[in-house]
Amino acid sequence: MSQIILEAKQINKYFEDPVRIKVLSDINFSINKGDFVSLTGKSGCGKSTLLYVLSTMDTAYEGEVFIDQEIMPKSNESFLAKIRNEKIGFVFQFHYLLNEFNVLENVMLPGQKLAKYSKEEIEHRAYEKLKILDIEKLAFKKANQISGGEKQRVAIARALINDPHIIMGDEPTGNLDKKNSDKVFEIFTKLVSELNQTLLIVTHDESFAERTNRIIKMEDGKIIS
Ligand SMILES: Nc1ncnc2c1ncn2[C@@H]1O[C@H](COP(=O)(O)OP(=O)(O)OP(=O)(O)O)[C@@H](O)[C@H]1O
Ligand SMILES: [Mg+2]
Repeated sequence: MSQIILEAKQINKYFEDPVRIKVLSDINFSINKGDFVSLTGKSGCGKSTLLYVLSTMDTAYEGEVFIDQEIMPKSNESFLAKIRNEKIGFVFQFHYLLNEFNVLENVMLPGQKLAKYSKEEIEHRAYEKLKILDIEKLAFKKANQISGGEKQRVAIARALINDPHIIMGDEPTGNLDKKNSDKVFEIFTKLVSELNQTLLIVTHDESFAERTNRIIKMEDGKIIS
């Protein structure tokens, strides 16, 4: 039987804006280990809102989120911060690398925050992640001295540093040209096939979504297929 990594049970969410608007409606699904899932739908349908809920960054919702079969509390921010750092790797449209640090140091940061391994081990692990992404030659370059496509690959290496249960991305290729988008897609595919990594990626890019193993399509806050 496959192992469930992420599960959403009966999620509903409202914004008060200034009147109460329902933005997520009866969301139910689960993602198994090794799944490569894309989350698609028109602008404003609730994709980012759902990703914030699933990643525990937003706790103002009805329903239940399970990560690695464990129910996520709706308070206890320090516990949730630890879950995020340990179990979820994030890749956003913008990479949020720190320019004053080199590539290797940027990849190491979430590892140092987790403090599970020594600095030497984290450095070794960071270097291994750079190798998986074929960018180990950039290790000692400052983050502002590399290209946009390379930055996004560094951001993926950083997302991998703590061996997360799932990688969540919000338009990770949104800021990239076709060539670099394809490269990122290729890397995601490799993570799934070689490391059995689990991925949930929000994307507008239909050609990207069509190549993933499963498409979750949203409309007006609901999952339609
Ligand atoms: N903080 C907020 N307060 C009130 N309404 C919000 C807030 N954030 C988002 N919304 C609304 O909730 C709906 C869903 O927004 P969301 O950002 O999840 O859409 P999306 O599918 O990610 O869109 P896009 O593809 O453009 O990124 C939209 O109607 C948006 O205007
Ligand atoms: Mg969005």
